[in-house]
Amino acid sequence: MGLFSGKVVIVTGSGNGIGRAHALAFAKAGACVVVNDVGGARDGAGKDQRAADAMVDEIKAAGGEAIATHTSVSDLDGADMILWSALNRFRKVDVLVNNAGILRDRALTNMSTAEWDSVIDVHLKGSFLMSRAFARAIKTQGGGGYAIVNTTSVSGLRGNFGQANYAAAKAGIYGLTRVCSIELEKLGCRVNAIAPVALTRMTEDVPRLQQMGIEQLGPQHISPVALWLASDLAKDVNGRVFGVHGPKVFEYRMSQSEGLDAPPGGGEWTPEQLAAELPRFALT
Ligand SMILES: NC(=O)c1ccc[n+]([C@@H]2O[C@H](COP(=O)([O-])OP(=O)(O)OC[C@H]3O[C@@H](n4cnc5c(N)ncnc54)[C@H](O)[C@@H]3O)[C@@H](O)[C@H]2O)c1
Repeated sequence: MGLFSGKVVIVTGSGNGIGRAHALAFAKAGACVVVNDVGGARDGAGKDQRAADAMVDEIKAAGGEAIATHTSVSDLDGADMILWSALNRFRKVDVLVNNAGILRDRALTNMSTAEWDSVIDVHLKGSFLMSRAFARAIKTQGGGGYAIVNTTSVSGLRGNFGQANYAAAKAGIYGLTRVCSIELEKLGCRVNAIAPVALTRMTEDVPRLQQMGIEQLGPQHISPVALWLASDLAKDVNGRVFGVHGPKVFEYRMSQSEGLDAPPGGGEWTPEQLAAELPRFALT
């Protein structure tokens, strides 16, 4: 019996990169996998059904169970179609991994509205549409043991030059993870996120990462963390974000300083008092 025997797992963006590694790992662990991928370029341009189809063929050739879906997570009908396909074929869903993503990097002053919208659409709106469709399905199913694993990024959690659209989407996914972890607890569903760093086509132009090589920084290092978070082995883990840089794992947490309850002498703060007291209310 594998860790996911009898479980139905949806992995978005699983025709390439990290999602592909997730789909293979879930299938190997016994899951029925719903492979979703539009098969576009790194910047989201174009479509090719072969990305998802090839993944399904690979899983089946290895003795696993999978179906392919080719619709976009950023499209209401597309997201609903992914859930419908899963329910139609496997009669239930257990796990959702929101992984699909694109990149359209540009410095803020040069970024077009289309570059902003497309990246926010795939990452943030896509994670919302898929999470909502999944939550509605498990609400009907009842029971528990459900999990969502979202994909955020160091860029959204700490910032990175040239990625206003991507970082805003990934920071939004952090907020979505926190809210869903609170709201879906009563449906028996945990919601966590991973912030990976891996060698894929998304990072193919980052020389520092390329130097490290596929063995040290391949997507195969990311999937065990996704499987752990999706499984009952993490039954007490909810609303948390784990960094995975190759074999290194760690946790991110939002910090809050102890602060000062009121300005010296009471009343309202003045800008001058705030400037003077910064070391006493800020994080050290
Ligand atoms: N590679 C890294 O170091 C890194 C770092 C931080 C975060 N991430 C995140 O990990 C996830 C996977 O990235 P990757 O590096 O494997 O990239 P990738 O480009 O190799 O794979 C992304 C996949 O998503 C698919 N996709 C894009 N838009 C889609 C849509 N609208 N609907 C369905 N599928 C769609 C693509 O076709 C592609 O197969 C992304 O969310 C990315 O932002 C990656």
